[in-house]
Amino acid sequence: MIWEQLLWMLALCVLPLVLCFLQADADLTLLWAEWRGRRPEWELTDMVVWVTGASSGIGEELALQLSKLRVSLVLSARRIQELERVKRRCLENGNLKEKDILVLPLDLTNRSSHDMATKAVLREFGRIDILVNNGGTAHKSMALETNLDVFQELMERNYLGTVSLTKCVLPHMMKRKQGKIVTVNSLGGILPVPLASAYCASKHALRGFFKSLEAELFNYPGITISNIFPGPVESNIFKNSFTGEVTKTIGNTTQNIPKIATSRCVRLMLISMANNLKEVWICLQPGLFIAYLWQYKPTWAWTILSHKWRQTIENSKRAM
Ligand SMILES: *[C@@H]1O[C@H](CO)[C@@H](O)[C@H](O)[C@H]1NC(C)=O
Ligand SMILES: *[C@@H]1O[C@H](CO)[C@@H](O)[C@H](O)[C@H]1NC(C)=O
Repeated sequence: MIWEQLLWMLALCVLPLVLCFLQADADLTLLWAEWRGRRPEWELTDMVVWVTGASSGIGEELALQLSKLRVSLVLSARRIQELERVKRRCLENGNLKEKDILVLPLDLTNRSSHDMATKAVLREFGRIDILVNNGGTAHKSMALETNLDVFQELMERNYLGTVSLTKCVLPHMMKRKQGKIVTVNSLGGILPVPLASAYCASKHALRGFFKSLEAELFNYPGITISNIFPGPVESNIFKNSFTGEVTKTIGNTTQNIPKIATSRCVRLMLISMANNLKEVWICLQPGLFIAYLWQYKPTWAWTILSHKWRQTIENSKRAM
């Protein structure tokens, strides 16, 4: 009798949690920080923030949301006209003045330019509080049908470019004993994603690099290394993805997977930055559930996912 009552009580406690989880679009630590944690509006004002990949997608939205806080912004990407466009949008919608935004064209693959770019930021604003490593590219093709050039280019852009820029900026943060290095990784940096082996490899590499770097910084509690793992986002990453060839991008395609709104993803990123969260997952269901399953029960995850993956691959072959 008593057991029955206990079970009912347990069910009543667990049910709201399950319902919450079904609605969740980020890992529970991040959602807790959104509810009870520090606000970006308190924590990030007056900071100098350098965003790579700022010409579109998550980077552009991040610039826009940051421009509503009182920050100094450095916008980097390859295409200067697009950066100027983003700067104009920031000036129109935000609280910044012309002098608060530096447009700094940067090619992640041109590693010999990174030191000079870092010095240019320091000359302009005197410090770098936050580096957001956001620039990156994807591809969509079967591993065996993907030219090795694609593997190399994605490693250069997503991995080595980011490592190189981080190595330029970090000594400056170590001197000040403070700073945040925020890297936009991907759930593909944790889980397998069929048709994206080269992308996943570059993102897994980034994860390994930053986790190990973080472990080396034990004497610098003021420096936060933060890795953001979004699932599918309404960004341009699908459109700009390579095919099996490095000379061809996918262009407009319809993706019928649930994607989180860019604005929501970026808001959650700002909350992570304000609360110094080290690893965050941002994804709609059922992706979030899959991430948890993958973390704690990988064998079950394989069993459940292999059917889904097969479907994904067969659908994509039919579409080609
Ligand atoms: C790389 O950057 C350097 C320094 O900014 C520049 O002189 C050089 O032309 C760039 N190389 C390429 C291939 O764009
Ligand atoms: C792709 O879509 C965008 C916006 O929907 C449109 O402006 C552009 O012309 C399209 N490009 C092609 C090649 O269809």
